Amino acid sequence: MTDLITVTDEGPIRTVRMNRPDKKNALTFAMYEAMAAAVEDAPKLPDLACLLLAGSATDFCAGNDIGNFMQTAAEDAGLRTPVMRFLHALARCELPVVAAVQGNAVGIGTTMLMHCDHVVASSEARLATPFVSLGILPEFGSTLIAPRLMGHARAFSLLVMGRPLTAAEAKEAGLVNTVVAPGAVEAEAVKAARAIAALPRESVLTAKRLMRGTREEIVARIDEESTIIRARLRSPEARAAFEAFMARKKS
Ligand code: COA
Repeated sequence: MTDLITVTDEGPIRTVRMNRPDKKNALTFAMYEAMAAAVEDAPKLPDLACLLLAGSATDFCAGNDIGNFMQTAAEDAGLRTPVMRFLHALARCELPVVAAVQGNAVGIGTTMLMHCDHVVASSEARLATPFVSLGILPEFGSTLIAPRLMGHARAFSLLVMGRPLTAAEAKEAGLVNTVVAPGAVEAEAVKAARAIAALPRESVLTAKRLMRGTREEIVARIDEESTIIRARLRSPEARAAFEAFMARKKS
């Protein structure tokens, strides 16, 4: 168990909050495990009708913990079970998912939004996926979902060139629904979650299932990306990038 993820059920809404503000909500193995459990469990509870993913006021999520990446590379066992469990759980989640994005959404902080159904972002939010400059590969099925969502050119700029998106650009790209002033994000996201939860649950779940289509294509891509990431994590480029990040920490 970790207190770096909090799970709160309030009426029909389950809020899963990343709560490691001193590290910008970078995700550790224990955090993935707790998030996966909360996401897997939610659709089984008939009183719950919507999930809300949230971070803190200054950061949604700074991506995978770089120290954990280095550990994974050293073990050469591929992405750890808790990471894969979370990727599969959110990709397969039957309940609608709303996200409240404030501040930085880096790496998986951005790609997890591709599995959400409604995203509210602060006008100051910054979305970035520096996977390729880190010597690895975009994950979470993003190589499949992003080009479909925003077209190849914009997806290439984001996922390969690593050019960040402002909240307004992310809205234009179809990744964000609503951009609000900093400080208004959580209230707006709760409002959206309540509106979804007020709809007939079975109709919402069925509509989501049909709109998302078969999940197996996405899960297969997640697995394919993960296999390649396993090898890339041990590449000289990845090692150099992780070491540079850790060295920057100390300086
Ligand atoms: N893994 C581990 N630690 C991380 C982290 C990550 N992904 N992101 C941030 N942190 C830690 C920093 O090391 C620092 O720790 P310290 O206070 O012990 O030195 C702390 O969080 C604050 O980060 P800092 O970089 O000082 O904040 P910032 O406001 O200047 O920058 C970010 C914020 C998110 C832009 C920057 O931290 C960043 O680029 N992080 C890495 C993102 C990344 O590459 N993620 C992997 C994607 S695949």
